[in-house]
Amino acid sequence: MAKYEPVLLKNVGVEGVRNLKVYRERGGYAAAEKALKNHTPAQIVEIVKESGLRGRGGAGFPAGVKWSFLPEKRQVTYLCVNADESEPGTFCNRVLMEEDPHQLLEGIIISAYATQTTTAYIYMRVEFHEQFHILQTALDEAYAAGLFGKNLFGTGYNLECFIHRGAGAYVCGEETGLIESLEGKRGWPRIKPPFPAIEGLFRRPTVVNNVETLCCVPHIIERGAAWFKSIGTEGSSGPKLYTISGPVKRPGCYEAPLGITCRDLIFGDDYGQGMIDGRKVKGCIPGGLSVGVLTESELDCKLDFDEVRKYGLLGLGTAGAIVIPQDADIREVLANVARFYSHESCGQCTQCREGTNWMYKIAMRIALGAGRIADLDLICEVTRKMGMMPGLSICGLPDGAAYPIRTIVEKFRDEFEQHIRRQEPGRVEQVLKRLNPAIYELPIIGQRGSHTYHRAG
Ligand SMILES: Cc1cc2nc3c(=O)[nH]c(=O)nc-3n(C[C@H](O)[C@H](O)[C@H](O)COP(=O)(O)O)c2cc1C
Ligand code: SF4
Repeated sequence: MAKYEPVLLKNVGVEGVRNLKVYRERGGYAAAEKALKNHTPAQIVEIVKESGLRGRGGAGFPAGVKWSFLPEKRQVTYLCVNADESEPGTFCNRVLMEEDPHQLLEGIIISAYATQTTTAYIYMRVEFHEQFHILQTALDEAYAAGLFGKNLFGTGYNLECFIHRGAGAYVCGEETGLIESLEGKRGWPRIKPPFPAIEGLFRRPTVVNNVETLCCVPHIIERGAAWFKSIGTEGSSGPKLYTISGPVKRPGCYEAPLGITCRDLIFGDDYGQGMIDGRKVKGCIPGGLSVGVLTESELDCKLDFDEVRKYGLLGLGTAGAIVIPQDADIREVLANVARFYSHESCGQCTQCREGTNWMYKIAMRIALGAGRIADLDLICEVTRKMGMMPGLSICGLPDGAAYPIRTIVEKFRDEFEQHIRRQEPGRVEQVLKRLNPAIYELPIIGQRGSHTYHRAG
């Protein structure tokens, strides 16, 4: 099989590519010039629709279709770039901004032009200190070269771009939470409709797109919709960044065509290269925490937007895989997962605020060895009584809590039952000792991901 040529990570490792000069020498900003000079905004929207590009931020919504939801008659439109990247186990946006900031800026120019936007905001999670400075330096350089500001490429098109740093909340990655936060308010999601395309930032039509989604756009303009569509699987086109963390030999961020299997990601020579110290895989949460878990026997699942659903997962999510080793105590995995959502619920909706907290309490009871078999049914029942899908919440956070919790309990039920049936003298002391001084200090698996970045090959 022909070796896959990286697209999004093609500049990783190229000396000085964060500088405008080197980026341009490698063909950078040619796609932006081509888009602005040779195409109307409507044509760009059509090309992106035709490419089948689906949002990389979690929901997989087709980007071109989202752009076409903007009302035809409008005076002001905003583009919000979602660089909040708070999903546990996910760090591909970070890599893109750190390694190739101009690629993102070029994607912003083309996408802003397509949506006839004259102001773009990059909303970045506060912990991205280094990435903020890298991106701001690149933006300053691009402004100085006339790539932002007035009359881009002599076409009369104007575009301002600002980087806004969040204060560090998972829920501010949700697009309307992001918008509220950007407006200077408390960062919690808005009731929809109206959707942002109709009434978003400052009550104006707004498009929110993920960093990786926008990074795909220059390549689509440069090489065409048909080329983009030829990569990946049916309905899931294009290149994708996959991240992998946990006890694998080579944790990191890898580029591959959409649809590689989870097994390949863990064991493939170009990716994770297998487990360290001969450890075995118990399971893998393949798409950021919120999508749910695959067992070892399900690892041949293709990681594209559609196949994952056949395995009971919420979706592809962010394609940030967290590997759970065989020797991990599944009760502690569950408690760890439940803790995250209980902590991050913004508290507006009763089912989410109470439900995530209730699930955390049940999970802790099980982890401490005081669980009952009935708790397994109870926690699964709670997962079904919350979230946007049953229409009980403002945002998708509780759906994202429900899937990992329910799939962990259902797919590892035997293991939970064995633990619960077995009397384990001293379990409470054992766990508390491990988790003390504050049980709330349980580490969150994969949240920080890995610090090494690689591209395939
Ligand atoms: C609780 C929650 C957190 C989210 N966090 C992020 C995030 O950190 N980054 C992101 O791009 N999308 C995140 N999303 C999805 C966004 O709401 C939105 O769908 C996405 O930014 C749209 O961009 P895309 O169409 O390019 O994927 C989150 C959604 C929810 C419900
Ligand atoms: S679902 Fe949860 S996180 Fe989302 S708005 Fe409601 S309380 Fe907040």
